Amino acid sequence: MNLYDRIPNNVNLSEDKKLQRALEKWLPNYLDWWREMGPEGFQEKDVWLRTAVDVGSEGWAHFDYVKMPDYRWGIFLEPPQPDAKVGFGDNYGRPAYQEVPGEFRNALRRIIVTQGDTEPASVEQRRQLGKTCPSLYDLRNLFQVNVEEGRHLWAMVYLLHGYFGRDGRDEADELLARRSGNPDKPRILEAFNQPCDDWLNFFAFTMFTDRDGKYQLSALAESGFEPLARTCQFMLTEEAHHMFVGDTGLGRVCRRTAQLMKEGDVRELGGIPLEIIQKYINFWFSYSLDLFGGEISSNSADFFAAGLKGRYKERDQYTDHLATNENFTMTVVEDGQLKTREVPLRNALNEVLRGEYVKDCEKGLARWNKVLADEGASERLYLPHPRFHRHVGEFAGHTFDLQGNLISRDEFERRKSEWLPTMEDREYVRSLMHPVFEVGKIANWIAPPAAGIKGKPFEFEYVRL
Ligand SMILES: [Fe+2]
Ligand SMILES: [Fe+2]
Repeated sequence: MNLYDRIPNNVNLSEDKKLQRALEKWLPNYLDWWREMGPEGFQEKDVWLRTAVDVGSEGWAHFDYVKMPDYRWGIFLEPPQPDAKVGFGDNYGRPAYQEVPGEFRNALRRIIVTQGDTEPASVEQRRQLGKTCPSLYDLRNLFQVNVEEGRHLWAMVYLLHGYFGRDGRDEADELLARRSGNPDKPRILEAFNQPCDDWLNFFAFTMFTDRDGKYQLSALAESGFEPLARTCQFMLTEEAHHMFVGDTGLGRVCRRTAQLMKEGDVRELGGIPLEIIQKYINFWFSYSLDLFGGEISSNSADFFAAGLKGRYKERDQYTDHLATNENFTMTVVEDGQLKTREVPLRNALNEVLRGEYVKDCEKGLARWNKVLADEGASERLYLPHPRFHRHVGEFAGHTFDLQGNLISRDEFERRKSEWLPTMEDREYVRSLMHPVFEVGKIANWIAPPAAGIKGKPFEFEYVRL
């Protein structure tokens, strides 16, 4: 097979023999993984997809019908900056790392593997979803997100193969061996082992969990390891579409629910009640907060000191790129009570990034609440307190209500069916998930989008079945 016709790239793949050999071995395994774990039942269908063929504003979004296994998963980095410098930490102002610095090798590999593992995991979580799509437009968006998560895996595997030698190749193989939700070989992060088997889950996932991805990638886009920074900068352009799918998807569910509320009982009319939407928000927001890591973290301090992982918009938003003299005031649990504690800023960077993320999520909630208001509903959706339902960090092991008040485990257990999706809620949502495969038609529980993709109308054959 001619590898270079298959893999569009801007990294001179044809001239790098070492990388060539590594990718030649990895590519067939990747395709086996895609056929086994990619979208089930649609592999031979033509899907109207965008393919990145260049990083320029024109070239990277080329639209055409493609069968997913024939998708050209490319390797693209933003162009290098001349005289790039390490933008923060102890090596601030020194030349950016073009190779992996020996002393940071393990930390850097860990960062890349952890990010890389989320990409195939999310494809695995959604592999049954196509069978219950609410419209061809949504089906196409699902597949677009899927192939791009596949490309994000390629992006991380390129770094492992290109910069880490043998252990990088071993890690790249492991990325294809773990399986979402498999008790023996689970994916690394817990949110990526949760089932995502209905469309409300999918929209909440792309809204909240892909948005965590945006903040992780943004912090890595600041990295002093230049190949990683340039890779993540380009991934962010694709990530924006994933969040669009989640944000507008939930907005359309809210619109339909509010419309049905005017007609009568939402359940009787086959819609998704606002209480259930709220519980899904509570579930995915809290799991996504965990992805930022512990509130107080020596890893975050080490990564920052090493110049590997910066803050959100480190270059644009801050003037002090050393962050050695400041403290951060944090709430912690001590002796069964909430107390404040001063923490050196570098140890609080996970929490700083999480704070940026929460602000961004709040904007999404405001958009959905505007939809509810526009449709004449007086109810509003909200984010739970960031302490609610946490499994990582300072608040794991303690129980909180939606307002962030410390409560007993008993009270949490008694009330959690009000706050988190129950088996019945999930079954109810699943009971609504009947596929709509006709061009221009849409399921009853969701409103159509305001516009189609790339100038096409909603009534376009986005997937040829
Ligand atoms: Fe991704
Ligand atoms: Fe994504």
